[in-house]
Amino acid sequence: MEVPPWAIFSLACLAALPFLFKIFSRHRNHPPGPKPWPVIGNFHLLGPLPHHSLHKLSQKYGPIMQLSFGSVPVVVASSSEAAKLFLKTYDHVFANRPQTAAGRLTGNNHASVIWAPYGPSLRQWRKILQSELFSLKRIEAYEYIRMEEVRALMLRIYASFGKPVPLRRQLSCFTLSIMSRVVLGKKYFSDSKDVKSIIQLEEFQEMIEEFILLNGVFYIGDWIPWLGNFLDFQGYVKRMKVVNEKFNRYFDYVFEDHMSKKEAEKERDFEGRNIVDFLLELLDDPSLEVKLTYDKLKTFAQDLLIGGTETTASTVEWAMSELLKNPHVMEKASEELDRVIGRERWVEEKDIPRLAYIDAIMKEAMRKRPVASTLGMHEALEDCKVEGYDIKRGTILLVNLWSLGRDDRVWENPEEFRPERFLGKAIDVRGQTFELLPFGSGRRMCPSYNFALRMIMCCLANLLHGFKWELPAEHNVEDMSLEETYGISTTRKFPLVGVPKPRLPFHLYQQ
Ligand code: HEM
Repeated sequence: MEVPPWAIFSLACLAALPFLFKIFSRHRNHPPGPKPWPVIGNFHLLGPLPHHSLHKLSQKYGPIMQLSFGSVPVVVASSSEAAKLFLKTYDHVFANRPQTAAGRLTGNNHASVIWAPYGPSLRQWRKILQSELFSLKRIEAYEYIRMEEVRALMLRIYASFGKPVPLRRQLSCFTLSIMSRVVLGKKYFSDSKDVKSIIQLEEFQEMIEEFILLNGVFYIGDWIPWLGNFLDFQGYVKRMKVVNEKFNRYFDYVFEDHMSKKEAEKERDFEGRNIVDFLLELLDDPSLEVKLTYDKLKTFAQDLLIGGTETTASTVEWAMSELLKNPHVMEKASEELDRVIGRERWVEEKDIPRLAYIDAIMKEAMRKRPVASTLGMHEALEDCKVEGYDIKRGTILLVNLWSLGRDDRVWENPEEFRPERFLGKAIDVRGQTFELLPFGSGRRMCPSYNFALRMIMCCLANLLHGFKWELPAEHNVEDMSLEETYGISTTRKFPLVGVPKPRLPFHLYQQ
């Protein structure tokens, strides 16, 4: 049988492909990294805690390394110098986010700010956030909410004094209460079975935990679409759809409630309005560059509520966990509080600038236990050259904060929890000192860090001022496990339980 010339030509091209690819890629200087396997790339090198696996790999391949997840190139920055290059010098190139299943299925088709591609819509949202919703003036106006919720938290803890307190649940109730009141105007949940509400606190906390987990997982379909899309053998797609439906139902209820009250409350000034009220006015705003749809507003409210709840609660939980493991640090914190505040009152926000040691504890917790351990995923908008390495458009960037916090060129004995390392040092957490980047830096940096810092500091300072904390009797410091679970925020695997003993006069714990 005669073989047609087109078939011979096609076969020859196919056979030549690997050689052409080799010749072509020889001219490219990619960052060093492990050899990828066919189909899966380097997925087999990722354990259940990817930031740990990437940290180990970076010790072999260096602070800028390249891996492949499926066929997608992924660059990992593991030092402060590398982070500065990607998030400052080349910030404009790496400001995009990849289009993932989580962004599509839990963020109403990338309507979410967290997963939004870089462009006019994202810039508009960030401007609204920074100049209107979380400007310094607005943050100050929300102070009474933070203080009322701190007080409520202290009273709840006091109510169970002498008994073990599940701190994770209490902290997430605290942050969720603040975020609900700021964003939605009130708590649309109930923490008592006797009070009827759209949702019970526990169910709401579980929904948020599920959302956080699903937004941080490595879903195989994002990297090997033909494999993941057919099978969903990890079960993530199904779970994303379920959690998305629950949140949509919840926010539909909240928005309808606001819309029905809108007419009646038209007269209120801005100081009295919450974020959903403000957002609803944007629906009719002709001056906006990018028109806003109902779905976008709903997803934005979801971003704020979820973005602010778990991250902040986990940061305080990690700080308290390290303090329980290091009682001498807790003692020094109490000494500072006694000296600056005295025992006759609670800590207020105006006291925060004078609490240098508590501030150092917060920074040390953020260094050692960054809740956003690899930041959000960034994506290269174009081809570029970084430190002489060729990086292709579409490459994913991960900045491993876990590695940054363990760099022994920067931090002496990085495994020790030693807040003193920050005293008298100009190391800040606002994206300008690249050794410590809990909120990221540059165009995708957390837009609400000032608000988060106030919540953390006033919560942590009052927890330490109001109570002396110990582990439950059957636990001891040596066996205390600080294992983690990975997600869009890295939380403790086993929620923290502590036993509080009041430190202040009895009358301060009365309503
Ligand atoms: C301790 C508390 C918090 C931490 C550690 C934290 C950390 C972060 C990080 C690391 C990012 C991504 C940066 C990047 O990808 O380069 C981020 C993004 C974001 N955060 Fe926060 N955050 C916290 C609290 C909050 C709060 C209170 C809110 C809302 C009120 C919030 C809303 C957001 C939003 C909307 C984004 C997406 C920004 C974008 O992609 O452009 N976060 N946060």
